Amino acid sequence: IYVIHIAAEMAPVAKVGGLGDVLTGLSRSLQRKGHLVEAILPKYDCMDYSRIVNLKELDLELHSTFDGQIHKNKVWCGIVEGLPVYFIEPLHPAKFFWRGQFYSEPDDFRRFTYFCRAAMEFILQSGKRPDIIHSHDWQTAVVAPLYWDIYVPLGLDSARLAFTCHNFEYQGAENSGAIAACGLSARDLMRPDRMQDNSFHNKINLLKGGIVFSNVVTTVSPTYAQEVLRPEGGKGLHGTLGVHSKKFFGVLNGIDEEVWDPSTDVLLDYQYSAEDIDGKFINKQKLRERLGLASQGDDEKRPLVGCVTRLVPQKGVHLIRHSIYRTLEKGGQFILLGSSPVPQIQHEFEDIARQFEKHPQIRLVLKYDEALSHSIYAASDIFVIPSIFEPCGLTQMISMRYGTIPVVRRTGGLADRFVLITELRFIRR
Ligand code: ADP
Ligand code: GLC
Repeated sequence: IYVIHIAAEMAPVAKVGGLGDVLTGLSRSLQRKGHLVEAILPKYDCMDYSRIVNLKELDLELHSTFDGQIHKNKVWCGIVEGLPVYFIEPLHPAKFFWRGQFYSEPDDFRRFTYFCRAAMEFILQSGKRPDIIHSHDWQTAVVAPLYWDIYVPLGLDSARLAFTCHNFEYQGAENSGAIAACGLSARDLMRPDRMQDNSFHNKINLLKGGIVFSNVVTTVSPTYAQEVLRPEGGKGLHGTLGVHSKKFFGVLNGIDEEVWDPSTDVLLDYQYSAEDIDGKFINKQKLRERLGLASQGDDEKRPLVGCVTRLVPQKGVHLIRHSIYRTLEKGGQFILLGSSPVPQIQHEFEDIARQFEKHPQIRLVLKYDEALSHSIYAASDIFVIPSIFEPCGLTQMISMRYGTIPVVRRTGGLADRFVLITELRFIRR
């Protein structure tokens, strides 16, 4: 089967959170099963180009439509973790992907609808005829209405559409007129059974379009799939999901066990495995030394609590803050690695970081740092994930792979993994 993913993230070159991990992990796993898998991404300026092998510009002038005009794009091809990836570089004056960050730009709706139109145009013009086009989250949800309204009439009709929603909190809703830029008709789509936002009736909702117009819709764990069918979980889309429930499934994510493997992980101070668990302690001591935490005498025995997360309300930021003070009170050590797109939350944690700047038991590192994240999974004894809601969550799976006990709130994918742990314990007894 020939699958093309169209997505906004792909680890390790363009990763903000779990979507990036899943795009690469899922693709590699399908590839190992013998399927042909490719991906199309925007060519961001802020990608990690060092992780793209053989990046070359294709000899192809890609023209795509936006705001009723024709725009030129360059298309690049390279290999990411063994997967062929096409990167679209718009030559549009707005420099959509030349912003120094992946998301949180005021024109995100335009940036990603532009990208999706160009990605579909690339599939058509390059003669690719995939069996499945798989898009992810609101950023690429518009692929589905574009396919049926524009590309099937142009002869691109071999594919069936899969859409995965990794988080119903982010929906991509804009004033209805905004959809016209990528060539779709607001008049056709602004209907309650199509893309009209269920709460703000003058808005068009991209995520809803992905649900309504795809052949199969998935989300990333069975429990979350149940939660979003209820009003408090679906963030306004529970009714739409109810109508489309026959094609809607919860499929639990996994992690790529080659990428996340403490016995081969080159980012660790010392590789270890379940048979050589002492190696975990070496990582703990090295990380303590690097971050200036106490590591000698009685301090050596203190349990280390880790947390690696985007600092957004979903993740239970108040509970994370609470667990820092609680760990201190109980005589443990705490390392937080995280950053926030919400300035107020970022400032709040910067204040806490300053308060504990030279503290021997607490360290807050408020940035994105892939290498440090690996060290924390390896060094910690306990990993806290107090999410208010969690579609799947990968950090609990990574923790377990590194011999670190996750302490979680029982919600979404965290609940699915928690059930697994209790069952295992039961079997062992
Ligand atoms: P989400 O996608 O909601 O952020 P997940 O648990 O699915 O949550 O995935 C988070 C991924 O992002 C994990 O691979 C985690 O290690 C990584 N991550 C989160 N914050 C950081 C950070 N500050 N530095 C490095 N990696 C991070
Ligand atoms: C989203 C969710 C997270 C999930 C990830 C990958 O970012 O917040 O729970 O693990 O997508 O599917």
